Amino acid sequence: MARSLTSLAALVGLAWLASPAVAVSRPGVDARTGKRADVPITDPASHVNLFIGTTSSGHAFPGHCGDGNVLETCNCDINSRKRLRKTLADGSPDDVAEPGYFASNLTTDVRIELTATRRAALHRYTFPAGTAIPRMVVDVTNDGQQSNSNPIVHIDQDTGRVTAGSTFAASFGPGTYRAFQCVDFKGVGFDLGSPVEFGTYLGNSPIRGLVDGIQEYTGYRSELGALVGFKTNGDGPTTIFARVGMSFISTDQACQNAESEIPSFDFEGTRAAVRAEWNELLGRVQVETQGVDDDTVELFYSSLYRTHISPADYTGENPLWQSDEPYYDSFYCNWDTFRTLYPLMSLHDPENFARIVRGMINIQQHEGWLPECRGATAKQWMQGGSDGDPILGEFFVKFADQAASLQVPADALYNALLADAEDQPPNWNLQGRQINAWKQFGYIPQDLVEAGGANTKQVSRALEYAFGDFAISQVAKALNKTADGEKYAKRAGNFVNVWNANVSVPGNVSIVGMVQPRFVNGSFGFTDPRHCSPNDPTGSTCFLFNQNFDGFYESSPIVYSQFVPQDNAKLIELQGGPEKFVARLDFIFDQNFFDSTDEPSQQIPFMYHYANKPGHSTQRSRQVLAQHFSTATNGLPGNDDSGAMASYVAFFLAGLYPIPATKQYLLSSPFFPQISFFNPAFNSTTTIITKNFVGNPGDGTGGTVFVQNVTIDGKPAKSNCFLEWDVFQRGATVELTLTDDIEVSCGNGTNALPPSLSTGGFDV
Ligand SMILES: *[C@@H]1O[C@H](CO)[C@@H](O)[C@H](O)[C@H]1NC(C)=O
Ligand SMILES: *[C@@H]1O[C@H](CO)[C@@H](O)[C@H](O)[C@H]1NC(C)=O
Ligand SMILES: *[C@@H]1O[C@H](CO)[C@@H](O)[C@H](O)[C@H]1NC(C)=O
Ligand SMILES: *[C@@H]1O[C@H](CO)[C@@H](O)[C@H](O)[C@H]1NC(C)=O
Ligand SMILES: *[C@@H]1O[C@H](CO)[C@@H](O)[C@H](O)[C@H]1NC(C)=O
Ligand SMILES: *[C@@H]1O[C@H](CO)[C@@H](O)[C@H](O)[C@H]1NC(C)=O
Ligand SMILES: *[C@@H]1O[C@H](CO)[C@@H](O)[C@H](O)[C@H]1NC(C)=O
Ligand SMILES: *[C@@H]1O[C@H](CO)[C@@H](O)[C@H](O)[C@H]1NC(C)=O
Repeated sequence: MARSLTSLAALVGLAWLASPAVAVSRPGVDARTGKRADVPITDPASHVNLFIGTTSSGHAFPGHCGDGNVLETCNCDINSRKRLRKTLADGSPDDVAEPGYFASNLTTDVRIELTATRRAALHRYTFPAGTAIPRMVVDVTNDGQQSNSNPIVHIDQDTGRVTAGSTFAASFGPGTYRAFQCVDFKGVGFDLGSPVEFGTYLGNSPIRGLVDGIQEYTGYRSELGALVGFKTNGDGPTTIFARVGMSFISTDQACQNAESEIPSFDFEGTRAAVRAEWNELLGRVQVETQGVDDDTVELFYSSLYRTHISPADYTGENPLWQSDEPYYDSFYCNWDTFRTLYPLMSLHDPENFARIVRGMINIQQHEGWLPECRGATAKQWMQGGSDGDPILGEFFVKFADQAASLQVPADALYNALLADAEDQPPNWNLQGRQINAWKQFGYIPQDLVEAGGANTKQVSRALEYAFGDFAISQVAKALNKTADGEKYAKRAGNFVNVWNANVSVPGNVSIVGMVQPRFVNGSFGFTDPRHCSPNDPTGSTCFLFNQNFDGFYESSPIVYSQFVPQDNAKLIELQGGPEKFVARLDFIFDQNFFDSTDEPSQQIPFMYHYANKPGHSTQRSRQVLAQHFSTATNGLPGNDDSGAMASYVAFFLAGLYPIPATKQYLLSSPFFPQISFFNPAFNSTTTIITKNFVGNPGDGTGGTVFVQNVTIDGKPAKSNCFLEWDVFQRGATVELTLTDDIEVSCGNGTNALPPSLSTGGFDV
């Protein structure tokens, strides 16, 4: 989505940011070394650029105030104490960021270094020689949106330990959450002793010797925190650790988390352990780099890295109920990530995928519906359908046989889906779907007034409900629930109910047939097909909070008219056949209706596959990367949306595109002469080799990049434009022969085109 992500990064996120969001177990590491003996990349973390898509990075707390004066004169509030970072000769900030490590130098000559574990961070601050009193600010209340209430802070004047907590507002919804911190200090190379001065502050007024701070919210929020000063390490620079534990349960648990995860303030050991964890995870995907420029390798591993930040493993930190199941949170949001993030996880990280799925099922069992857009334990706004459905479908369709060993209960998973499929929630702005209307009408009427949620986004929700039902039908089939499989597959076909064959794009009558709003009485409303697009004459964004009664969320009718991943064959028929379908795709790109910043456009570059023109998908997807994505700090066209954009870029670079909740991946050409995926669930490695790789055209146009012929383990493939999951399960070798002729095809066999519901459906 195009929204900006106001977040907890400054305060809560820090502990999670630098370690993989997921606990990594790694059975079989030794076992597979043999198979990957020729693998070139042993330190993929060195190819990760954390500055992609940032304009600034790091939210360290300079802990610098008063510039050497007495504590009482310190201006502690965030605006007063801000200090600039140093810049290098080229004007860029003097920062270093690596997986598990961040460092920066301030203009005050204070050096900041950070590393982290799952629920704790270790900061290392070096103060320059001549510092009178090294001071630290523990900021309790700044969450970036000034939303705190009922903050508390306490200083232990003997040990210097600071414990704190505050309630914050969710950043994309109505709820709140409470977060706790525990901060311990330790001198590096000297005994820090007790603080030589300390106090808590409210607003800009520190009170020396005051060990407790509270604020009852009475309409105006002042900043609250603690200020502690220590002795120096002689006359030279003074280095002090600050170890920050985090918890959603209590300050005690925040302290325990820090003590258990970083027991001995071992900065380099923590940093090395996090990096090793990242390398193990990222190293499951290996690329051959010969003939590939460094930026492409960097873009690939940096993107892969960002797919592992969110959702985050909050196991042990759920304040809402007790359970032995894993607890995951920061699904931000499933609407963004269901399309590409989880299908990428299927390829190389099924164990963590399974834990996330268990966590989602656990939430459904306690709250009635699957999470959709959840942040820091608070339910946030729905954007479209309940997109946990395709995520659970993605898991089960691909791992039905491994579900039990991955501890995912099939019955509970199916029941969680049925809740979305059948039960109307009390508030479909937060969870679930407006399901009664969907069941009654087969679309969401634009003029239906019903208690329980906002009457908006009716058309785009209907399309996502249809895809959700498709995912449920796939799971039902995998469970041999044949009748349910048919029932939900039929509902997945309801997208046709919002198709108005007579609507064309103003100024171009050849682009005819559009999804449109529809009324209770069955007649159609009208929304300009350009509405919400970059070419919208009225400039609407169609964001959540607009007066958005036009039927569409964040993308145009033109874009949503392409969103039927379960039945592109039907879409081609509705759009007048393959030639018109291809002309419409070209129109979308040529006339700037494709929106690189928003998820509903993501699959469009690959849709030429369904018209048997996979070479055009290859070129479009490469042009999209060349035009909109790079390793620069402005190398993301919009919000990364919790790895939604990163996973899409990783797929395009891998020459693949997923269809969630199916066993198929669309196939193009990788940007590498060879790419392989190790899958721990199967202990198998799948390798895609381009036999005649000659490099990638810089602007994505032309080149010897079009897939002419595919063999799998030496035998001709049934299709040249998609791969079956079986290939990845058993660990096959896929060999591609490339040509410079864009007019390649999927092949001539009856099963050469990727599947669609209306042409026989999908095997599970
Ligand atoms: C994993 O596969 C390798 C061969 O690729 C084999 O040597 C090893 O025994 C397998 N490990 C397990 C746990 O099955
Ligand atoms: C900061 O300054 C130190 C020297 O004090 C230097 O070693 C380091 O490279 C600088 N930059 C960062 C990001 O740490
Ligand atoms: C479904 O039926 C197939 C074929 O009879 C069988 O192999 C499979 O184990 C069954 N799956 C389940 C979940 O019962
Ligand atoms: C489209 O136009 C045809 C011919 O005028 C008409 O029969 C049909 O009902 C129209 N369809 C819709 C959905 O308006
Ligand atoms: C159907 O309902 C809409 C919206 O309430 C109304 O504008 C339209 O006139 C109705 N059409 C018919 C044929 O009753
Ligand atoms: C209408 O779209 C078609 C298909 O892309 C294109 O060939 C044609 O030039 C377009 N016409 C106008 C007036 O934009
Ligand atoms: C594809 O390659 C295989 C193996 O080399 C070969 O048997 C087959 O004829 C090729 N097909 C085409 C269409 O080139
Ligand atoms: C499909 O058939 C045509 C004509 O028989 C042939 O030229 C072409 O190579 C075939 N394509 C593939 C991918 O097999």
